[in-house]
Amino acid sequence: MKSNRREFLKGAFWMGATAALAGCSTGALRISRPGGLMQGFAAAPLKKVRVGVIGLGRGFGGVQRMFQIPGTEVTAICDIVPRRIDRALEWCRKNGKKAPKVYTGNEEAWKKLCDSDDVDLVYNATPWLLHTPIALYAMNAGKHVAIEVPAALTLDDCWALVETAEKTRLHCMQLENCCYGETELLALNLARKGLLGDLIHGEAAYIHDLREYCYGKFDKEKGAGGYYDYWRLNYNKDHAGNQYETHGLGPICQYMNINRGDRFDYLVSVDSKQLSFEKYAKAKFGPDSWEGKMKVQMGNMNTTVIKTVLGRTIMVQHDVASPRPYSRLNLISGTKGILCDYPFRVALAKDEIESCHVFDKENGEKIRKEHMHPLWAQAGELAKKIGGHGGMDFLMDLRLSYCLQNGLPLDMDVYDLASWCSLGELTEKSARNRGCSLDVPDFTKGGWKTAKPLGIETIDMSKLDISNIS
Ligand SMILES: NC(=O)c1ccc[n+]([C@@H]2O[C@H](COP(=O)([O-])OP(=O)(O)OC[C@H]3O[C@@H](n4cnc5c(N)ncnc54)[C@H](O)[C@@H]3O)[C@@H](O)[C@H]2O)c1
Repeated sequence: MKSNRREFLKGAFWMGATAALAGCSTGALRISRPGGLMQGFAAAPLKKVRVGVIGLGRGFGGVQRMFQIPGTEVTAICDIVPRRIDRALEWCRKNGKKAPKVYTGNEEAWKKLCDSDDVDLVYNATPWLLHTPIALYAMNAGKHVAIEVPAALTLDDCWALVETAEKTRLHCMQLENCCYGETELLALNLARKGLLGDLIHGEAAYIHDLREYCYGKFDKEKGAGGYYDYWRLNYNKDHAGNQYETHGLGPICQYMNINRGDRFDYLVSVDSKQLSFEKYAKAKFGPDSWEGKMKVQMGNMNTTVIKTVLGRTIMVQHDVASPRPYSRLNLISGTKGILCDYPFRVALAKDEIESCHVFDKENGEKIRKEHMHPLWAQAGELAKKIGGHGGMDFLMDLRLSYCLQNGLPLDMDVYDLASWCSLGELTEKSARNRGCSLDVPDFTKGGWKTAKPLGIETIDMSKLDISNIS
């Protein structure tokens, strides 16, 4: 089935999160004359990066990490729950950090943070439905934005972010921390060195049993419990397809130069039936409770296959309900070898004739050490010490601040954000239509043909001294 952007605008069901909040037609957000492509875009260097963090669940970790990065200060925080604000202020006091300005008290206090003069970067870690509206508002207020995953929920949100970044000439980056995992960076390094040969196929996933969090009641007094106001359960119950697609997918796209030499062409997507959410809720809360009676539309498992214009394939899976161990798969296979994770395995052939019949654990460890990505070699140990998903959160924030301080392009741009997040709406539409094939929009409008691939990006210690971070 051929599809274009307008087809997705039909009917309230496909209405974007942004539009639903603003109460207007999704088409109203279209900006007719953006200011040109943002590939390779670099903003003027910032002597100091002043960060405003909105949403202090996961965002609290962002406050802690950003405060440790030289040349970076958290100047503002915003949350609707007072206890979450207090927790961040307590941490600042205990760690000798200047207290950031506080924005709270109502659902739209974040607007004042975005409008303030002492913020350069809005770091948005709110529930999904707020991601795009806050990012659009912040860019229009002249701020760079970094948005938690998924940054956009609909194709219209994706286009609105692309066109607003193009118009305002500001960075709009998705905080895809998994691109900075040790094994992901190793795979990127192997791919860049040509040791996997020509890349053919990737497998990505988000398999994580989140039932306890989804049904957990958020205690506003304690600022703890499940997700705020059941935001994740509420979204999952109304949607099919893969609505949390980027953790496994982002790194595979970087290995394959998606939007920088190749791009997504089309996809097909199929959902399994849903059982685990509903069985869990009935067993835990009773069949007559509101939880037990709730129907969840999201399948236990969604499986999507993307075909790229250069003929590669990527399988992407999503399952947040089944009782099974965590996995992002992270499999990349080429004409000379394969790397995969959960558990970590790698096999490299000498040439395009030799076979790789087995994974040799000892040799795998040798390859891991020999081809460690320079960024991980440089700051990996420190990142592990500071923490955040084994260090990858810190490396992501470090690179983001480093690039802003030095006027460099970011590792992930607004086109990466849009193409990765386009899966939300496309997989839902395909899964609801017997896995029909759907075209993926070219958000770069042809720019993918000439854009430079992401290199092996590192940190120049003479420009950002991380030696004093403890
Ligand atoms: N990259 C990762 O590894 C990772 C991990 C966890 C969560 N996330 C993402 O981070 C985001 C937040 O997830 P979470 O686990 O912290 O959820 P959460 O529910 O724990 O936290 C959300 C926070 O946003 C606040 N909030 C809600 N409405 C608000 C408003 N109008 N104004 C200001 N604050 C508001 C809530 O009070 C809460 O503190 C989600 O997008 C999620 O997908 C990413």
